[in-house]
Amino acid sequence: MKISIIGAGNVGASAALKVCEKELAEEVVLVDIAEGVPQGKALDIQQAMPLNNSNTRIKGTNDYAEINGSGIVVVTAGVPRKPGMTREDLLNVNANIIKSIVGHIKKHAPDSIVIVVTNPLDIMSYIMLKETGFDKSKVIGMAGVLDSTRFRTFIALETGAKVEDIEAMVLGGHGDSMVPLAAHTKVDGKPITDILPPEKVEKLVQRTRDGGAEIVKLLKTGSAFYAPGASVVEMIESIVNENEKVLQCSVYLDGEYGYEDIFLGVPVRLGSDGVKEIVVLELNDKEQELLDRSAESVKEVVSKIR
Ligand SMILES: NC(=O)c1ccc[n+]([C@@H]2O[C@H](COP(=O)([O-])OP(=O)(O)OC[C@H]3O[C@@H](n4cnc5c(N)ncnc54)[C@H](O)[C@@H]3O)[C@@H](O)[C@H]2O)c1
Repeated sequence: MKISIIGAGNVGASAALKVCEKELAEEVVLVDIAEGVPQGKALDIQQAMPLNNSNTRIKGTNDYAEINGSGIVVVTAGVPRKPGMTREDLLNVNANIIKSIVGHIKKHAPDSIVIVVTNPLDIMSYIMLKETGFDKSKVIGMAGVLDSTRFRTFIALETGAKVEDIEAMVLGGHGDSMVPLAAHTKVDGKPITDILPPEKVEKLVQRTRDGGAEIVKLLKTGSAFYAPGASVVEMIESIVNENEKVLQCSVYLDGEYGYEDIFLGVPVRLGSDGVKEIVVLELNDKEQELLDRSAESVKEVVSKIR
Protein backbone atom coordinates (compact mmCIF):
# COMPACT_ATOMS: atom_id res chain seq x y z
CA MET A 1 0.00 0.00 0.00
CA LYS A 2 1.17 3.49 -0.87
CA ILE A 3 -0.49 6.41 0.90
CA SER A 4 -0.08 10.02 -0.16
CA ILE A 5 -0.92 13.02 1.97
CA ILE A 6 -1.40 16.34 0.22
CA GLY A 7 -0.72 19.27 2.53
CA ALA A 8 2.23 18.88 4.90
CA GLY A 9 0.83 21.30 7.46
CA ASN A 10 -0.30 20.47 10.97
CA VAL A 11 -3.00 17.91 10.14
CA GLY A 12 -1.11 16.34 7.23
CA ALA A 13 2.12 15.89 9.16
CA SER A 14 0.30 14.54 12.25
CA ALA A 15 -1.51 11.98 10.11
CA ALA A 16 1.72 11.06 8.30
CA LEU A 17 3.54 10.47 11.57
CA LYS A 18 0.83 8.14 12.85
CA VAL A 19 0.50 6.22 9.57
CA CYS A 20 4.25 5.60 9.66
CA GLU A 21 4.28 4.71 13.37
CA LYS A 22 1.52 2.16 12.78
CA GLU A 23 3.24 0.86 9.62
CA LEU A 24 -0.04 1.12 7.71
CA ALA A 25 1.78 1.53 4.39
CA GLU A 26 5.08 0.53 2.84
CA GLU A 27 5.44 3.98 1.36
CA VAL A 28 4.09 7.38 2.40
CA VAL A 29 4.39 10.51 0.24
CA LEU A 30 3.90 13.96 1.75
CA VAL A 31 3.21 16.69 -0.83
CA ASP A 32 3.06 20.45 -0.33
CA ILE A 33 3.59 23.57 -2.38
CA ALA A 34 5.91 25.03 0.29
CA GLU A 35 9.47 24.20 -0.74
CA GLY A 36 11.45 22.22 1.82
CA VAL A 37 8.56 21.78 4.24
CA PRO A 38 7.33 18.32 3.17
CA GLN A 39 10.94 17.19 2.66
CA GLY A 40 12.01 18.37 6.14
CA LYS A 41 8.97 16.93 7.92
CA ALA A 42 9.28 13.61 6.07
CA LEU A 43 12.93 13.32 7.04
CA ASP A 44 12.12 14.09 10.66
CA ILE A 45 9.33 11.46 10.68
CA GLN A 46 11.62 8.93 8.98
CA GLN A 47 14.21 9.39 11.70
CA ALA A 48 11.61 8.52 14.37
CA MET A 49 10.79 5.16 12.75
CA PRO A 50 13.57 2.99 14.25
CA LEU A 51 12.15 3.99 17.66
CA ASN A 52 8.78 2.61 16.50
CA ASN A 53 10.19 -0.53 14.87
CA SER A 54 8.55 0.69 11.68
CA ASN A 55 10.05 0.14 8.24
CA THR A 56 7.63 2.46 6.44
CA ARG A 57 9.45 4.76 4.03
CA ILE A 58 8.28 8.38 3.85
CA LYS A 59 9.21 10.93 1.21
CA GLY A 60 8.46 14.66 1.12
CA THR A 61 8.10 16.38 -2.23
CA ASN A 62 6.69 19.34 -4.18
CA ASP A 63 6.11 17.12 -7.20
CA TYR A 64 2.62 15.66 -7.56
CA ALA A 65 3.90 12.95 -9.92
CA GLU A 66 5.28 11.24 -6.79
CA ILE A 67 1.76 10.27 -5.69
CA ASN A 68 1.70 7.91 -8.66
CA GLY A 69 -0.06 4.62 -7.88
CA SER A 70 -1.31 5.57 -4.40
CA GLY A 71 -4.10 3.45 -2.93
CA ILE A 72 -5.19 6.26 -0.62
CA VAL A 73 -4.77 10.02 -1.07
CA VAL A 74 -5.50 12.22 1.93
CA VAL A 75 -6.18 15.88 1.13
CA THR A 76 -5.40 18.33 3.93
CA ALA A 77 -4.17 21.19 1.73
CA GLY A 78 -5.90 24.44 2.54
CA VAL A 79 -6.21 27.26 4.97
CA PRO A 80 -7.31 26.57 8.57
CA ARG A 81 -9.62 28.74 10.69
CA LYS A 82 -8.48 31.69 12.79
CA PRO A 83 -10.40 32.97 15.83
CA GLY A 84 -13.85 34.30 14.92
CA MET A 85 -14.00 32.41 11.61
CA THR A 86 -16.49 29.68 10.78
CA ARG A 87 -15.49 26.73 8.62
CA GLU A 88 -17.67 28.23 5.88
CA ASP A 89 -15.51 31.39 5.84
CA LEU A 90 -12.80 29.25 4.24
CA LEU A 91 -15.04 28.37 1.30
CA ASN A 92 -13.62 30.21 -1.71
CA VAL A 93 -9.92 30.00 -0.95
CA ASN A 94 -10.06 26.28 -0.12
CA ALA A 95 -12.39 25.46 -3.03
CA ASN A 96 -9.75 26.88 -5.39
CA ILE A 97 -7.01 24.85 -3.68
CA ILE A 98 -9.07 21.65 -4.00
CA LYS A 99 -9.78 22.36 -7.67
CA SER A 100 -6.05 22.85 -8.30
CA ILE A 101 -5.30 19.43 -6.79
CA VAL A 102 -8.02 17.40 -8.53
CA GLY A 103 -6.19 17.13 -11.88
CA HIS A 104 -3.09 15.71 -10.20
CA ILE A 105 -5.10 13.03 -8.39
CA LYS A 106 -6.93 12.08 -11.58
CA LYS A 107 -3.69 11.89 -13.52
CA HIS A 108 -1.42 10.14 -11.04
CA ALA A 109 -3.71 8.21 -8.69
CA PRO A 110 -6.88 7.48 -10.69
CA ASP A 111 -7.70 4.33 -8.70
CA SER A 112 -7.22 5.83 -5.26
CA ILE A 113 -9.62 6.32 -2.39
CA VAL A 114 -9.59 10.02 -1.51
CA ILE A 115 -10.03 11.12 2.10
CA VAL A 116 -10.88 14.82 2.22
CA VAL A 117 -10.00 16.81 5.36
CA THR A 118 -9.98 20.42 4.12
CA ASN A 119 -12.81 22.62 5.45
CA PRO A 120 -15.64 23.32 4.95
CA LEU A 121 -15.50 19.57 4.86
CA ASP A 122 -18.81 18.48 3.37
CA ILE A 123 -18.49 21.05 0.58
CA MET A 124 -14.85 20.24 -0.24
CA SER A 125 -15.75 16.53 -0.40
CA TYR A 126 -18.60 17.38 -2.78
CA ILE A 127 -16.26 19.38 -5.03
CA MET A 128 -13.71 16.55 -4.96
CA LEU A 129 -16.32 13.99 -6.05
CA LYS A 130 -17.80 16.13 -8.80
CA GLU A 131 -14.46 17.30 -10.20
CA THR A 132 -12.70 13.92 -10.12
CA GLY A 133 -15.72 12.03 -11.43
CA PHE A 134 -14.66 9.17 -9.11
CA ASP A 135 -17.20 6.64 -7.88
CA LYS A 136 -19.12 7.90 -4.82
CA SER A 137 -17.62 5.07 -2.74
CA LYS A 138 -14.13 6.46 -3.34
CA VAL A 139 -14.42 9.99 -1.95
CA ILE A 140 -14.87 10.19 1.82
CA GLY A 141 -14.80 13.19 4.14
CA MET A 142 -13.24 13.05 7.60
CA ALA A 143 -15.35 14.73 10.25
CA GLY A 144 -17.61 12.38 12.20
CA VAL A 145 -14.72 10.34 13.58
CA LEU A 146 -13.29 13.55 15.00
CA ASP A 147 -16.60 14.91 16.28
CA SER A 148 -17.44 11.62 18.00
CA THR A 149 -14.00 11.23 19.62
CA ARG A 150 -14.47 14.76 20.97
CA PHE A 151 -17.91 13.79 22.33
CA ARG A 152 -16.39 10.63 23.92
CA THR A 153 -13.64 12.75 25.48
CA PHE A 154 -16.07 15.16 27.13
CA ILE A 155 -18.25 12.27 28.37
CA ALA A 156 -15.18 10.53 29.84
CA LEU A 157 -14.06 13.74 31.57
CA GLU A 158 -17.58 14.28 32.97
CA THR A 159 -18.40 10.72 34.07
CA GLY A 160 -14.97 9.26 34.80
CA ALA A 161 -15.86 6.29 32.55
CA LYS A 162 -13.11 4.64 30.52
CA VAL A 163 -12.98 5.87 26.93
CA GLU A 164 -13.16 2.29 25.63
CA ASP A 165 -16.55 1.90 27.35
CA ILE A 166 -18.01 4.98 25.65
CA GLU A 167 -19.66 4.85 22.23
CA ALA A 168 -20.69 8.15 20.68
CA MET A 169 -22.53 9.06 17.52
CA VAL A 170 -22.34 12.44 15.78
CA LEU A 171 -24.08 12.85 12.42
CA GLY A 172 -24.76 15.69 10.00
CA GLY A 173 -22.60 18.40 8.53
CA HIS A 174 -19.20 19.23 10.04
CA GLY A 175 -20.20 22.65 11.27
CA ASP A 176 -22.26 24.36 13.90
CA SER A 177 -25.28 22.28 12.82
CA MET A 178 -23.66 18.89 13.54
CA VAL A 179 -25.95 16.46 15.34
CA PRO A 180 -24.50 14.61 18.36
CA LEU A 181 -27.06 11.83 18.96
CA ALA A 182 -27.43 11.52 22.72
CA ALA A 183 -29.85 8.57 22.48
CA HIS A 184 -27.31 6.58 20.42
CA THR A 185 -24.45 7.51 22.74
CA LYS A 186 -23.70 4.95 25.43
CA VAL A 187 -21.58 4.45 28.51
CA ASP A 188 -21.11 0.79 29.46
CA GLY A 189 -23.95 -0.06 27.05
CA LYS A 190 -26.43 2.33 28.74
CA PRO A 191 -27.73 5.42 26.92
CA ILE A 192 -26.07 8.58 28.24
CA THR A 193 -29.56 10.03 28.71
CA ASP A 194 -30.11 7.39 31.46
CA ILE A 195 -26.89 8.36 33.23
CA LEU A 196 -26.74 12.15 33.14
CA PRO A 197 -29.48 14.79 33.57
CA PRO A 198 -30.67 16.46 30.32
CA GLU A 199 -28.95 19.79 31.04
CA LYS A 200 -25.57 18.02 31.54
CA VAL A 201 -26.05 16.06 28.31
CA GLU A 202 -26.91 19.28 26.45
CA LYS A 203 -23.73 20.92 27.81
CA LEU A 204 -21.59 18.05 26.52
CA VAL A 205 -23.40 18.16 23.17
CA GLN A 206 -22.75 21.90 22.86
CA ARG A 207 -19.09 21.53 23.85
CA THR A 208 -18.77 18.90 21.10
CA ARG A 209 -20.33 21.29 18.54
CA ASP A 210 -17.88 23.98 19.68
CA GLY A 211 -14.98 21.51 20.02
CA GLY A 212 -13.01 22.92 17.09
CA ALA A 213 -13.74 26.58 17.90
CA GLU A 214 -12.60 26.11 21.52
CA ILE A 215 -9.16 25.05 20.25
CA VAL A 216 -8.99 27.77 17.54
CA LYS A 217 -9.63 30.36 20.25
CA LEU A 218 -6.76 29.03 22.36
CA LEU A 219 -4.25 28.53 19.53
CA LYS A 220 -5.09 31.86 17.84
CA THR A 221 -3.03 31.10 14.71
CA GLY A 222 -4.58 27.86 13.49
CA SER A 223 -6.89 24.99 14.29
CA ALA A 224 -6.76 21.56 15.94
CA PHE A 225 -4.51 18.92 14.44
CA TYR A 226 -3.59 16.05 16.80
CA ALA A 227 -7.12 14.64 17.09
CA PRO A 228 -7.90 15.41 13.40
CA GLY A 229 -4.69 13.62 12.32
CA ALA A 230 -5.56 10.62 14.51
CA SER A 231 -9.10 10.59 13.08
CA VAL A 232 -7.76 10.38 9.52
CA VAL A 233 -5.60 7.43 10.57
CA GLU A 234 -8.59 5.65 12.14
CA MET A 235 -10.24 5.78 8.70
CA ILE A 236 -7.08 4.64 6.91
CA GLU A 237 -6.77 1.72 9.34
CA SER A 238 -10.34 0.68 8.61
CA ILE A 239 -9.67 0.75 4.86
CA VAL A 240 -6.33 -1.05 5.06
CA ASN A 241 -7.36 -3.70 7.61
CA GLU A 242 -11.04 -4.00 6.59
CA ASN A 243 -11.87 -4.16 10.30
CA GLU A 244 -15.62 -3.63 9.77
CA LYS A 245 -15.79 -0.87 12.39
CA VAL A 246 -18.71 1.51 11.99
CA LEU A 247 -17.23 5.00 11.60
CA GLN A 248 -19.02 8.26 11.03
CA CYS A 249 -17.81 9.82 7.80
CA SER A 250 -19.08 12.42 5.38
CA VAL A 251 -20.21 10.48 2.31
CA TYR A 252 -22.28 11.15 -0.79
CA LEU A 253 -25.93 10.37 -0.15
CA ASP A 254 -28.10 9.13 -2.95
CA GLY A 255 -31.43 8.72 -1.17
CA GLU A 256 -30.10 7.35 2.14
CA TYR A 257 -31.67 9.11 5.14
CA GLY A 258 -33.97 10.83 2.63
CA TYR A 259 -31.25 13.08 1.14
CA GLU A 260 -29.89 13.32 -2.37
CA ASP A 261 -26.83 14.85 -3.99
CA ILE A 262 -25.19 15.91 -0.76
CA PHE A 263 -22.25 14.96 1.47
CA LEU A 264 -23.33 14.47 5.06
CA GLY A 265 -21.92 12.68 8.10
CA VAL A 266 -23.50 9.24 8.61
CA PRO A 267 -22.29 5.88 9.96
CA VAL A 268 -20.47 3.79 7.35
CA ARG A 269 -18.35 0.69 7.01
CA LEU A 270 -15.12 1.20 5.10
CA GLY A 271 -13.10 -1.39 3.22
CA SER A 272 -10.42 -1.74 0.58
CA ASP A 273 -12.78 -0.30 -2.07
CA GLY A 274 -13.86 2.66 0.03
CA VAL A 275 -17.40 2.94 1.38
CA LYS A 276 -18.73 -0.63 1.72
CA GLU A 277 -22.01 0.21 3.42
CA ILE A 278 -23.97 3.20 4.65
CA VAL A 279 -25.62 2.22 7.93
CA VAL A 280 -29.11 3.69 8.22
CA LEU A 281 -30.14 4.34 11.83
CA GLU A 282 -33.67 4.73 13.14
CA LEU A 283 -33.95 8.37 14.13
CA ASN A 284 -36.64 9.90 16.31
CA ASP A 285 -38.54 12.98 15.06
CA LYS A 286 -36.32 15.44 16.93
CA GLU A 287 -33.11 13.84 15.59
CA GLN A 288 -34.49 13.76 12.04
CA GLU A 289 -35.43 17.42 12.33
CA LEU A 290 -31.91 18.36 13.48
CA LEU A 291 -30.40 16.31 10.66
CA ASP A 292 -32.73 18.01 8.16
CA ARG A 293 -31.55 21.38 9.42
CA SER A 294 -27.93 20.31 9.14
CA ALA A 295 -28.48 19.04 5.59
CA GLU A 296 -30.17 22.36 4.71
CA SER A 297 -27.18 24.36 5.90
CA VAL A 298 -24.78 22.19 3.85
CA LYS A 299 -27.02 22.56 0.77
CA GLU A 300 -27.10 26.31 1.25
CA VAL A 301 -23.30 26.53 1.07
CA VAL A 302 -23.17 24.18 -1.93
CA SER A 303 -25.62 26.45 -3.75
CA LYS A 304 -23.23 29.39 -3.16
CA ILE A 305 -20.40 27.65 -5.04
CA ARG A 306 -22.72 26.70 -7.88
N1 LIG B 1 -12.30 17.83 8.66
C1 LIG B 1 -11.88 18.15 9.85
O1 LIG B 1 -12.42 17.67 10.85
C2 LIG B 1 -10.72 19.08 10.01
C3 LIG B 1 -10.02 19.16 11.22
C4 LIG B 1 -8.92 20.02 11.31
C5 LIG B 1 -8.55 20.79 10.21
N2 LIG B 1 -9.27 20.71 9.07
C6 LIG B 1 -8.92 21.50 7.89
O2 LIG B 1 -7.76 20.92 7.29
C7 LIG B 1 -7.06 21.94 6.56
C8 LIG B 1 -5.58 21.92 6.96
O3 LIG B 1 -5.44 22.31 8.30
P1 LIG B 1 -3.96 22.45 8.94
O4 LIG B 1 -4.16 22.80 10.36
O5 LIG B 1 -3.13 21.27 8.57
O6 LIG B 1 -3.45 23.74 8.13
P2 LIG B 1 -1.93 24.17 7.86
O7 LIG B 1 -1.95 25.59 7.45
O8 LIG B 1 -1.08 23.74 8.98
O9 LIG B 1 -1.53 23.27 6.58
C9 LIG B 1 -2.07 23.43 5.33
C10 LIG B 1 -0.98 23.10 4.31
O10 LIG B 1 -1.57 23.07 3.00
C11 LIG B 1 -0.56 23.53 2.12
N3 LIG B 1 -1.13 23.88 0.82
C12 LIG B 1 -1.86 24.97 0.47
N4 LIG B 1 -2.20 24.88 -0.83
C13 LIG B 1 -1.69 23.72 -1.31
C14 LIG B 1 -1.71 23.07 -2.58
N5 LIG B 1 -2.34 23.60 -3.63
N6 LIG B 1 -1.07 21.87 -2.70
C15 LIG B 1 -0.43 21.32 -1.64
N7 LIG B 1 -0.38 21.89 -0.42
C16 LIG B 1 -1.01 23.07 -0.27
C17 LIG B 1 0.09 24.69 2.86
O11 LIG B 1 1.36 25.02 2.32
C18 LIG B 1 0.16 24.13 4.28
O12 LIG B 1 1.39 23.48 4.52
C19 LIG B 1 -7.80 23.25 6.87
O13 LIG B 1 -8.70 23.55 5.82
C20 LIG B 1 -8.55 22.93 8.14
O14 LIG B 1 -9.70 23.74 8.30
C21 LIG B 1 -10.33 19.87 8.94
